Amino acid sequence: MSVISVLSGPALVMAPMTKGGNLPYRRLCQALGATVTMSEMAVVRSLQHRRRGEFALIQRAPDERCFGVQLAGRAPDELKWGAELVASRGADFVDLNLGCPIDEFTRRGLGSALLRQPRRIERLVAAMKEGAGPVPVTVKIRLGWNEDERNAVDVARAAEAGGADALTVHGRTRSARYRNAADWVAIGEVAQAVRIPVVGNGDILFPEDIARGRTLSGVQAVMIARGALIKPWIFAEALGQVVDDSPEGRLAIYREYVRLAKEHFGDDERGHTRLRPFLVWHLGLWCRHIPRQADGSYVPMQERAVFASPSSPLEALLARPEPEVHGWIADRLMAGDELIPGDLPADIVPDPPADPRDRRDDRDSRQRHPTETPAAG
Ligand SMILES: Cc1cc2nc3c(=O)[nH]c(=O)nc-3n(C[C@H](O)[C@H](O)[C@H](O)COP(=O)(O)O)c2cc1C
Repeated sequence: MSVISVLSGPALVMAPMTKGGNLPYRRLCQALGATVTMSEMAVVRSLQHRRRGEFALIQRAPDERCFGVQLAGRAPDELKWGAELVASRGADFVDLNLGCPIDEFTRRGLGSALLRQPRRIERLVAAMKEGAGPVPVTVKIRLGWNEDERNAVDVARAAEAGGADALTVHGRTRSARYRNAADWVAIGEVAQAVRIPVVGNGDILFPEDIARGRTLSGVQAVMIARGALIKPWIFAEALGQVVDDSPEGRLAIYREYVRLAKEHFGDDERGHTRLRPFLVWHLGLWCRHIPRQADGSYVPMQERAVFASPSSPLEALLARPEPEVHGWIADRLMAGDELIPGDLPADIVPDPPADPRDRRDDRDSRQRHPTETPAAG
């Protein structure tokens, strides 16, 4: 089936994510049900300068079923070159980044800076089509540069006029970053304005969020970013599969990531050194998972609640937010050791409060940390 027919249906797309879209994590998400995976954003200029790190970003896993490479660029000739390169390396589609909000990129006219120039977008997409040949070209946009410049419909029409085969809409503006909830009604308005398939993106953490997004927007295909980082099994849940998200079940998923990552980075000292920062980073997102309440309710993506009542010492350990704890867990996972909460060195960092209302006690306990007592000072 072509990627465009896939995107016309109820596809579950793993979003392009810098760092988060590393190759082994994409394999994990695919194994858990992601229909489409995407590379981290690669800057065409860096590819043209033959930067090895940039080429690593566009590498496809041999078993990746439907893989798109995302490019950032601002000139037609460079994007044509980039699309040709990516197509020749076996990507199933090539995507243009029109959403990156980071100043460092927008100052250079990349990412969401281009949203302000729909006519240019048409030319960029046309150039990519020329370079990509038969390989489809897609575009990922936001609702606009800011609330006063919500021009997603114009941008989408320009992309379509340039020949884009599909479009993803992240339902927020550049200036909103992640502050407000994604606007799925606005995503639907864009979908109504074009004939090409539209993928909706924003705030999906539980299957109900997908159902709600589909109802509000009318789009079928959805893209998941932070939800996939916090709980990679969201894809399996979305497919209606029963997922063991008990602490032990989650740990098995995290161990599977370590297995895949060792395959990729190498299962030796050098490989472990490369893997560790990724693993610590992922633990910093995995710890944000808060399971459903007994009544089936859940904390939505935009509410950064504190997990107040872990059901076991292992669950409490996995919810710890401190990077030092993540480092300790990462070392155990990489060594293939059992993860015994009681083994966590007591002086690694103070224990978290049992209840979020006890936060002041946490500060007090930090002050009482052994190395900070008057005796130690
Ligand atoms: C860690 C991280 C890295 C991201 N990197 C990219 C990127 O390289 N390209 C891109 O188009 N969007 C990137 N995004 C944005 C996501 O693809 C997505 O549009 C956004 O997070 C909204 O989806 P969500 O609400 O499901 O997180 C990134 C998001 C995160 C959290």
